[in-house]
Amino acid sequence: MPDERLPLTDPQMHQAADRFGTPLYAYSAAELDAALNRVRTAFGDARLWYAMKANPNLTVLRRMAAAGVGFECVSLGELRRAVKIGAQGDSVLVNGPAKSDEEYRLGAELGATFILDRAEEVALLPPASRVLVRVNPGLEVSTHDHLATGAERSKFGVRIGEVGSVLEALRSAGHHVRGLHLHIGSAIRDAGDFGAAFGRVAGLRDVTGELEVLDVGGGWGLDADLPGIAARAREAAAVFGAQLWAEPGRYLVARSGVLLTRVVGHKATGRDFTLLDAGMTELLRPMLYGAEHPVHALWTGAPTTSDLAGPACESGDLLGRDVTLPAGGKRGDLLALLDAGAYGAAMSSSYLTRSRPAEVLWDGSDWTVMRRREMAEELWAAEE
Ligand code: LLP
Repeated sequence: MPDERLPLTDPQMHQAADRFGTPLYAYSAAELDAALNRVRTAFGDARLWYAMKANPNLTVLRRMAAAGVGFECVSLGELRRAVKIGAQGDSVLVNGPAKSDEEYRLGAELGATFILDRAEEVALLPPASRVLVRVNPGLEVSTHDHLATGAERSKFGVRIGEVGSVLEALRSAGHHVRGLHLHIGSAIRDAGDFGAAFGRVAGLRDVTGELEVLDVGGGWGLDADLPGIAARAREAAAVFGAQLWAEPGRYLVARSGVLLTRVVGHKATGRDFTLLDAGMTELLRPMLYGAEHPVHALWTGAPTTSDLAGPACESGDLLGRDVTLPAGGKRGDLLALLDAGAYGAAMSSSYLTRSRPAEVLWDGSDWTVMRRREMAEELWAAEE
C-alpha cells in the first residue's frame, strides 16, 4: 500500500465519507502547507504563482493568497475568482493562447501582467501593458502527448527565432516588457527536460539583453527532483540578471487530496471489475491521459487484481486497470484514489446529470466544507 502518499488516516477518511457522502474529495490542510514548504525550500526567494486551473476552489485560493502566492489565470472565470478573493493586479498573471476581449479588459483594469503567446497579441494588448513573452523552446518532453506544451508542433508560445522581433514590436508599441516565460508541459517525468528547455531559453540572452523576470512555468511531476529543477531555473534566470518566477499547479495541491468512493458491486465479463460510485465524471484523468492514480482500499483481504469501473454508460469509464486490491470488498466499502487534489475536482463534470462531488478540508481538528455537493435542481436551473 502506498501509505506514504496518504494525506489522511483511514479513520479520517471513514469519518468524512460517513458525514458528507461519496463520491467526495477530501483534502488535508497540513499536506497543502507541506507541499508549499517543499517548493519554497527548493526555490528559495523565487516568486510563486499558483496555476489555479489545478484546483480553483476559493478555499485553496485564499490559503495561497495568505501565504503570499500569486495566481496564473487562463480564463475570465479564473480572473474573476482572483478578484473574488481580493487578489491585487500585481499578484495576477493573465495567460492563455486565445484570450478574449473581456480577459484583456479585466486584466488591464487589475493592472495584471499578461503572458503574450503569439505576435498577433502585440496589437491586441491594452495600451502600456506589462508583458512576459512565452517562448516555445521546440522540445519533445516526457509526458502524455496532451500534456506537452513546449514541442515545436504544440500551439503554445513564440518560436525561438521570432522572440527578438516580438520584443521589438512590443517595445515600439509602448508596452512594458518584463521578461520571458516558458512552460513545457505537465506531469513531466524526466527532470532533465526542464534543464534542456531552460538552457534553450537562456540562449536568447544575446537577443533580449538583461530582463526583469524569467518565469519558468510549472509542470513538475509529484516525485520530481525540485532542488535540481530549481537549480537549473536559477542558472537560467541569472543569465538574464532576472528575478526567477515559477507557476506550479499540480505540485502544490495534488497530494493533499483524495477521491473517496464506495464499492457498488462486482462483475466479471472478459475482465474482472470492481464497480464504484465514482468514475469519469468525478476524475477524468485516467480516461483522458491514461493517468494512473494510486489506490488505497479501506478494507482488508488477500491481494487480488481488478479493474475499477465507474457508473457511466461509457466503456472508457475506468479509474484503473489491473489494480491490486484486497479481495472481498463489499458494497459500501470505501476506496481512496490518491494524488487527486489537482485536476480532479477541477475537471469534474455534470455529464449524465450527475452532481459534482462535495469537497471537504481536514484542518487537523475538524472538517470544513469547501464546496457542497451540487443539487440536481442546480444542474437544470439555467434551462428553465
Ligand atoms: N503554467 C502554465 C502556463 C500552464 O499551462 C500550466 C498547466 C501550469 C503552469 C501548471 O502546470 P502543473 O504544475 O500543474 O503541471 N489537466 C491536466 C493538466 C493540464 C495542465 C495545463 N497547464 C492533468 O490533469 O494532468
